[in-house]
Amino acid sequence: MADFILKTANDYAEQFSTNVDELLQSVEDFTLQHHPKAHMISGKIQGKFLETISRMIAPKKVLEIGTFTGYSAICLAKGLAQNGELHTVEIREDDARTASGFIEKAGLAQQIKVHVGNAMDIIPILGENWDLVFIDADKVNYIAYYELTLPLLKKGGWILADNVLFHGQVLENPVKGKNAEAVDAFNKHVAKDPRVEVVLLTVRDGLSIIRKK
Ligand SMILES: C[S@@+](CC[C@H](N)C(=O)[O-])C[C@H]1O[C@@H](n2cnc3c(N)ncnc32)[C@H](O)[C@@H]1O
Repeated sequence: MADFILKTANDYAEQFSTNVDELLQSVEDFTLQHHPKAHMISGKIQGKFLETISRMIAPKKVLEIGTFTGYSAICLAKGLAQNGELHTVEIREDDARTASGFIEKAGLAQQIKVHVGNAMDIIPILGENWDLVFIDADKVNYIAYYELTLPLLKKGGWILADNVLFHGQVLENPVKGKNAEAVDAFNKHVAKDPRVEVVLLTVRDGLSIIRKK
């Protein structure tokens, strides 16, 4: 959890939100015990939030950019329409392998397709149109992912973008560091884009919900 989030408020939110299932708990436990970058996992509140949004939309086609250990893919897949599919892209083979193992255990191997490689190369060859896109990979490419996926998004479709507060660093003046600068530039880029409407939520590390008009 980012330092700028009030721990007591987060604990309270977790206490009064529906518990995640055993499988998701095991993904989180494994990640916290074994991954040096465990803080990147969505975790309970954001995971439940992603699941809820997905259930509300009931998407047929979901794209996730940044699989990590599979936590958010499994959450998002819970809301898929019947015969719906989620495609998730991960550049690191080890993480993709870990995610695939958990996806298999969750019984979601038919619905979730894990692609290994650079999302910028893989997304164009998938040849899909998306109902919901979750952007959660390297921050310096957020604008590139947005510009790549917005034309592939169905009218009325949704983009969710994670870490849009970047550990609170976008709140500093001036904004410093390449990641915080990239996220701040992304937020400005989306806010002035007439093709979309956006709300930036202060959930966890900041999450924007973007609707294509
Ligand atoms: C913040 S983590 C994703 C967390 C995951 N969505 C979750 O909530 O559990 C970002 C992931 O994006 C991956 N990544 C970074 N650059 C990428 C790229 N160009 N293409 C695909 N994946 C990338 C990283 O290896 C990392 O696993």
